[in-house]
Amino acid sequence: MTGFISTRAGVSSTWREPGRWQTIRSSRSGGRCYFRCRRQFHLWARRDAKAPGKSAAREPVSNSTGEANALKPPVPYGSMLERERKERPGSAGILGLRNFVRESRAIALDLYDKLRGIDESRRLPGALALTLDDAAVNEREKRRDELTGYLSNAPWISRVPYEIACRFLDWAFTDRPIARFWFLETVARMPYFSYLSVLHLYETFNWLHLAELRRTHFAEEWNELHHLLIMSALGGDAKWSDRFLAYHLSIIYYWLLVVMYIVSPRLSYNFSELLEKHAVDTYEQFLTENEHRLKALPAPAIAVRYYANEVAYTFQAFGDENGSAVETSRPPVQTLYDAFLNIRLDEEEHVRTMEACQNYDLVERLTSSPYLREQSPEDGVPAHADKHAEESSADQTGSRAAWNRWADAVNQAGRRPGPDTRSEDADQKP
Ligand SMILES: [Fe+2]
Ligand SMILES: [Fe+2]
Repeated sequence: MTGFISTRAGVSSTWREPGRWQTIRSSRSGGRCYFRCRRQFHLWARRDAKAPGKSAAREPVSNSTGEANALKPPVPYGSMLERERKERPGSAGILGLRNFVRESRAIALDLYDKLRGIDESRRLPGALALTLDDAAVNEREKRRDELTGYLSNAPWISRVPYEIACRFLDWAFTDRPIARFWFLETVARMPYFSYLSVLHLYETFNWLHLAELRRTHFAEEWNELHHLLIMSALGGDAKWSDRFLAYHLSIIYYWLLVVMYIVSPRLSYNFSELLEKHAVDTYEQFLTENEHRLKALPAPAIAVRYYANEVAYTFQAFGDENGSAVETSRPPVQTLYDAFLNIRLDEEEHVRTMEACQNYDLVERLTSSPYLREQSPEDGVPAHADKHAEESSADQTGSRAAWNRWADAVNQAGRRPGPDTRSEDADQKP
């Protein structure tokens, strides 16, 4: 419920009332918006109370096209998704204060609603009535470990925090799968943030130049961001307490991973591999458990647009643990099942990447730019360009003689008169 409070000053929010669309343009103070939002919420809650089990979230929109079919929350649900449509940079003090006011208001309204006894299960994400069996997820992990030994063979420094994190998730998000996924996706971005930070630092120090690896990690982070936005659209961040927990634990996790990556990138990648495998198993169990329900619900607009327009995963240069390029496109999304299926496929890709990153021989193939490598005809590089690149690389292998040849060529080119364009211009004049 507290999600709609984020529809703060300067942000527009749209939702569907029975039979018509409404857009709220919040006033500078946000006060007018607040009262209008609350009125809309009460209308929705009353309608839902009259017809239990027939809320808009439970009834998928029956249009055939993807975007029109997108899930529209029945409440003026703002949250992160609405905010991220329009964010304004500013000094840290202003940004921090703005967030403090926003979250304080959310806490106050949450307390107010608790006193009024509002039924949480009728709001997103509870209204979607989706389930997740933690014991079944653990069983999947156990089976995977029996086959591959990925967990029992992991170093204790990865395994112990991993086990603690999994038990914590089971405890904190019992019977709340969407909130759990939102939390997981928030935390899942942290490894990529930390890898990027350390790689930037190494480039600044001139210790290591692996811009292609940075690009790969950015692609993964971009992908996780869209998973997060999808969970946000489903109401995963509706509770201020979940947001508080996720953001504060993420900061701690980020710094731990920075230190871990500085000490041993391999260890850090191994820990991320465990978490990504946990994500695959969790989404797999969720899809199995809720197949019929998910196929009846439309996907949020963000999922439809993202998988329709975006190359979901850019990892051409690196590939999997065998070094081959991997599939980058995803099937189009119409139902919520399609959206979660694509997310699960993305997570499998992250697993492959994390496994590949632990192989330094593979990482070594990456460079500061793909154009530093010899091009193959399949890359679409013109033959003369590739020949030039070969000559250049041959010259680079030589020493003084190569430099002299290069200097002679440049000097001769400088002495050569350029084409006389003046006479041509004169000819063209009437
Ligand atoms: Fe993810
Ligand atoms: Fe992931």
